[in-house]
Amino acid sequence: MASSARIALENVSYLFGKGALEKQVLFDIDTQIEGGEIVILTGPSGSGKTTLLTLIGALRSAQQGSVKVLGQELKNASEKDLIKVRRQIGYVFQSHNLLDSLTIHQNVQMALQLIGVKGKEASDRIAAVLQRVGLAEHEHKFPRELSGGQKQRAGIARALVNRPQIVLADEPTASLDKQSGRDVVELIQDLAREDGSAVILVTHDNRILDVADRILHLEDGRMKSLTEMVSEGASRMLNLLEKHDPNSANYLATFSFALARIAYADGEVSDSERDEMRRILHEVARLEAAEVEFIMELSMMQKRAKSGMDARFTNPALDKHRAEHFLESLYAIAQADGMTSGQEIAEIEAIATEFGLPKNAASESD
Ligand SMILES: Nc1ncnc2c1ncn2[C@@H]1O[C@H](COP(=O)(O)OP(=O)(O)OP(=O)(O)O)[C@@H](O)[C@H]1O
Ligand SMILES: [Mg+2]
Repeated sequence: MASSARIALENVSYLFGKGALEKQVLFDIDTQIEGGEIVILTGPSGSGKTTLLTLIGALRSAQQGSVKVLGQELKNASEKDLIKVRRQIGYVFQSHNLLDSLTIHQNVQMALQLIGVKGKEASDRIAAVLQRVGLAEHEHKFPRELSGGQKQRAGIARALVNRPQIVLADEPTASLDKQSGRDVVELIQDLAREDGSAVILVTHDNRILDVADRILHLEDGRMKSLTEMVSEGASRMLNLLEKHDPNSANYLATFSFALARIAYADGEVSDSERDEMRRILHEVARLEAAEVEFIMELSMMQKRAKSGMDARFTNPALDKHRAEHFLESLYAIAQADGMTSGQEIAEIEAIATEFGLPKNAASESD
């Protein structure tokens, strides 16, 4: 299995410094990433995200464990082999890293020169990638003539023009406003899907977690499973809530996850379903805006932890009135995007059964 993965890490540890100053920052990291997969790497500041990215990018090497990238073991690899690997990786940095004295066209061209693409093929590829990132009209401008978001997109064009097998992006949205951040990430996502690249994206921005196929979370240099992380986040919130009202804590947890299950039943969530979830959480569950966003965030993450989608909640002891509301809300989510799919209906019925809701209530609310 390890052999087919684009990136395979086994028991990877990394230490900075020597002797008395030695400090271990990564511990026993194990993971595999396939082509076409978009992985988001999250974690607090100093948890080791950038260090891990530079290990995978062949920019430094681990003291322990195995880092295999594109089939090449990086440990003890020759400089020549490392360069070969690096050339198949597109790096997107937090700051765009463009050269100020070169135009956008020339900045992108540099990446192609490294792999020996010249002449008409080079200019065709540059035009195509700048078109993709919406910079066709800015080709001959200098970085200082562009906005922050445009520079960031130019950096992405440069990283992707080689159609790299792997894209490593370290906080590509950090200096952007909400909308440009979203655009940049969706752009990376589209390009990755088209070219089948494996993408690792470091971010602190919870609003973009939903583009990920998988979320990896680092804490103090150790990989934590998403299920652990979600349940920690959820239980912290529910502990607080329980102090006020144990019944509503239980109800809210069940309710939120049931909404998320319906929204995700057909494999993707539309904006209208998202909006409907927000409305229901606000109006039916009477949550404040910040609480709604928190629940939405948990739900997005919950989607990734597919195994965590199984109902683990005890029957929330819904009274008749609440049970009706509960089911109505589930149907509202299913209908938010203008149609109710078979999967969504099946999911609602499964939830009704799991939670012991009256069967007839489920079919009547249709
Ligand atoms: N060149 C270095 N020499 C010594 N220690 C370093 C060096 N670079 C990073 N560290 C330490 O390694 C740990 C992990 O750093 P890293 O940059 O990987 O964190 P990060 O998760 O990317 O954080 P951030 O979110 O702030 O970018 C930190 O404790 C940091 O202080
Ligand atoms: Mg970092």
